[in-house]
Amino acid sequence: MIKLNIDDKGVLPFIEEKDINDLLPLVEKAHDDLVNYTGMGKEFLGWVDLPNEIDNAFLEDIIVQANKIKEKAEVYVVIGIGGSYLGARAVIESLQHNFNNLKSDRNYTFIIYAGQTLSEDYISDLLEILDKKDYCLSVISKSGTTTEPAIAFRILKAHLENKYGKEEARDRIIAITDKERGALKTLAIEEGYKTFIVPDNVGGRYSVLTPVGLLPIAVAGLDIKKLIEGAKAMRKHLLENKDIQTNPAWKYAMLRNALLRKGKTVEIMVNYLPSLVYFSEWWKQLYGESEGKDGKGLFTASVSNTTDLHSMGQYIQEGMRNIFETVLHVENSSKKVEIPFDKEDKDGLNYLLNKSLTEINHKAEEGTIMAHIEGNVPNIHISIERLDEYSLGELIYFYEFACGISGYVLGVNPFDQPGVEFYKRNMFKLLGK
Ligand code: PA5
Repeated sequence: MIKLNIDDKGVLPFIEEKDINDLLPLVEKAHDDLVNYTGMGKEFLGWVDLPNEIDNAFLEDIIVQANKIKEKAEVYVVIGIGGSYLGARAVIESLQHNFNNLKSDRNYTFIIYAGQTLSEDYISDLLEILDKKDYCLSVISKSGTTTEPAIAFRILKAHLENKYGKEEARDRIIAITDKERGALKTLAIEEGYKTFIVPDNVGGRYSVLTPVGLLPIAVAGLDIKKLIEGAKAMRKHLLENKDIQTNPAWKYAMLRNALLRKGKTVEIMVNYLPSLVYFSEWWKQLYGESEGKDGKGLFTASVSNTTDLHSMGQYIQEGMRNIFETVLHVENSSKKVEIPFDKEDKDGLNYLLNKSLTEINHKAEEGTIMAHIEGNVPNIHISIERLDEYSLGELIYFYEFACGISGYVLGVNPFDQPGVEFYKRNMFKLLGK
């Protein structure tokens, strides 16, 4: 039994039964094309069966490597960009302590990211920190040729070798890349780095459940077995339920396409927890890069409330009416904080005393949804019971599967990204490559 629930009450006033009936055959065909590997980009459908193909021995190998890193490193640098970075960060930031870097009592390897930016100040500040910390790194690139992580790796490899000597540095580097192609693979073989493989048939933004995501997530001390269990349960459910009422991926793909056809061209992912900011970043890339092509696709954006109710909330309530929202609701917090009683009640907050902060946050969410629907912003509501490895596994697979369906319904190949090459061509020309 999966725990994720999707509610369409906030969309029904904006669409008609005909809209659903028009889309249903397309959703059904998209489902079949995904599970039978017959749709566009079929050579990149490995993620569909991935959770079932992962066995315990594979996960144990990752956990052993993660433990080795944790033993010798205070800091673990994850070098990668796009799909080779966002999945790991999404899961780690969703589940780690909100002030992890300030916890003095931790027996924890701190995760830092590189290769996702060309900022000179960023990398310089990172080197300054790494001068004083014991560290290991993973360089993650499926193609093995992406410029941003390649530059970061060259700089950090030199720093690591300078700090520990070539031999010791080699034991502190893990490469995660293609099984045979690319400059990184050649380098890894020549230098003798421990290597994990990104499967050929899994594209970058669908690779969080491969070593690309699993190794950093395990180094962060999170339970990758539970993550895979959640993904497996969701896969089983989605493949066994070919029905709009019981298949949440069908429902989500159908609703967002119906809304797009009504002129709602922007989808905003809304969360009410700062720890989910990077989960939204992962989702933005998954859907934006998969669907935004051939002049089609929803523009994916995100807000983190209630913080952003005091900034973008104004636009969402009263700006251009081409948007809809998808709220990711988390039912339970894992920690409790009491609001203290104040007998003078000068701030007038005593009326909240019998409520938890989570309840208050939920009421803010409910009130906002009502206001936005009234303001002509449809609302898809996705809820999970709590933030843990299992529910994130469910959620990841749900979003991936729904993205495949949604892309096929839209009539695009959700597994390529030809547009990304344009900036690269210009940049290389400008740099005289
Ligand atoms: O989803 C994708 O395929 C991209 O976002 C890639 O992950 C990103 O461009 C990085 O590519 P690579 O892993 O080859 O360095």
